[in-house]
Amino acid sequence: MKEIKRVCVVGGGTMGNGIAHVFALSGLAVTLVEAKPELADKALATIAKNLDRQASKGAISAKDKDAALARLKPALSPAEAKGFSFAVVAVSERLDLKKQVFRELEAAAAPGAILATNTSSLPITEIASAVKDPSRVIGMHFMNPVPVMKLVEIIRGLQTSDETYETTRELALTLGKTPAMAKDFPGFVSNRVLMPMINEAVYCLMEGVSTKEDIDTVMKLGMAHPMGPLQLADYIGLDVCLAIMEVLHQGFADSKYRPCPLLRQMVQAGRLGVKSGRGFYEHPAK
Ligand code: 3HC
Repeated sequence: MKEIKRVCVVGGGTMGNGIAHVFALSGLAVTLVEAKPELADKALATIAKNLDRQASKGAISAKDKDAALARLKPALSPAEAKGFSFAVVAVSERLDLKKQVFRELEAAAAPGAILATNTSSLPITEIASAVKDPSRVIGMHFMNPVPVMKLVEIIRGLQTSDETYETTRELALTLGKTPAMAKDFPGFVSNRVLMPMINEAVYCLMEGVSTKEDIDTVMKLGMAHPMGPLQLADYIGLDVCLAIMEVLHQGFADSKYRPCPLLRQMVQAGRLGVKSGRGFYEHPAK
């Protein structure tokens, strides 16, 4: 198993800044790659705000917060982020973009470095085909909000080596997370189970089975989910939910995964949830 001390996180959006946050807090030196300096500044400011949140709750000390911030360095490309032995790619969920970033990372990484992707549903095996050594490519699927959620789903591509898997699993434990293994089939485990539930909740709404509030109440109070499925869909992004349903539908060629027409219509209308200010619910800017 490799010892990991220096990591590179590519992409500083919601997932990327959360991943950089937990790496830095667990004592690793982190280079956060963003395409523009203002995007890197924004990501670092978000991490500082979330670390403050944890410090003000007493979850971490002020010293831990300052040490974590000192371990974070911005860079404009993987080539600038030298000497890392582990990387996580958290750029937008486009296969062509991910493959491009993996090629750049392979050229910049230390020999034998592990290259992981955070992805909700893109195939790890196909991403791995972009690099010379697919045995060192793996999926590391964090849940949002990353600093809070305990799970990391670790996805083995067809050619991922045992060493890559074991090192990634150990790293997840070092982060204080609980790893769960999945093979590289559409939606892995998390989104293969979660998204059809959300999709079914949208069908219930479309067919008038119940109101959005009552659908969410059933799942919150009846099944002890922290958020109801429609509220959670707004939080994840309805475009993301639709894209994952399309992956399941196409990947399994099974009509049980057909996206609900109302979900598609919401996305067509630009009602994407929290990020657009309106989804199933209203989300006024804070
Ligand atoms: N950074 C640091 N701390 C954070 C945080 C962040 N980004 N976001 C929330 N927190 C902390 C808060 O400070 C608070 O800490 P405390 O318990 O010590 O007081 C705690 O988390 C709870 O936050 P809030 O009090 O603000 O609000 P809630 O009690 O409503 O919790 C929630 C918020 C954790 C988001 C909770 O509603 C929840 O668990 N929701 C479900 C989340 C979920 O299902 N995520 C998975 C989505 S699916 C996914 O990511 C996969 C993808 O592929 C689609």
